[in-house]
Amino acid sequence: MGMTPKIAPSMLSSDFANLAAEANRMLALGADWLHMDIMDGHFVPNLTIGAPIIESLRKHTDAYLDCHLMVTNPLDYVEPLAKAGASGFTFHIEAAKDNWRELVQKIKSAGMRPGISLKPGTPIEEIYPLVEGENAVEMVLVMTVEPGFGGQKFMPDMMDKVRALRSKYPTLDIEVDGGLGPSTIDVAAAAGANCIVAGSSVFGAPDPGLVISLLRDSVLKAQTTS
Ligand code: DX5
Ligand code: ZN
Repeated sequence: MGMTPKIAPSMLSSDFANLAAEANRMLALGADWLHMDIMDGHFVPNLTIGAPIIESLRKHTDAYLDCHLMVTNPLDYVEPLAKAGASGFTFHIEAAKDNWRELVQKIKSAGMRPGISLKPGTPIEEIYPLVEGENAVEMVLVMTVEPGFGGQKFMPDMMDKVRALRSKYPTLDIEVDGGLGPSTIDVAAAAGANCIVAGSSVFGAPDPGLVISLLRDSVLKAQTTS
């Protein structure tokens, strides 16, 4: 039995000049979370949004803002993002090998939900210590593309990581991000993912609401047949 499906459109694929309207459109179409990609132009070769934009968006919605930190110094973002109204704070293990304990603890005491993410080249074993013990993260985000850009091709090889996590942690929130859409959701859902990030497949669809419900149905179906 897996966890509740959470469908999280990636706002990276939205019209940033109309962010509030785009966010509320996604929520009206059935999105559970809004996935916010925070990139610093250093950890990844792209620069997107930061705390000021999260703060602006927060004034227009009560939705769960699922922040994905693709930054070199995640610790510097904890306080500004908490103040801005972020809900989830998912950082990369590659950027926090030495200070993840402190990070998780600070994220929690700032009132956000901690998550850990890993790039395609990082072995899943590296995040096991973060999922166990008293200061544990509450979600693992398995990247299914190299972080940095929307619209890339889903990497099916990453499903071994999802399967390994799901068999070890039956109730953990497992998120997948990159290349998810109608043609790739079934393998991710079958592997055990329950939080689904989707950017180009949702925003590029003639009927984004249909894609959102299709993603959710696939997760629910995989959970009842597993
Ligand atoms: C990539 C980002 C993703 C991206 C996904 O670094 O983390 O959230 O927006 O976009 P799609 O769904 O188009 O692959
Ligand atoms: Zn992301």
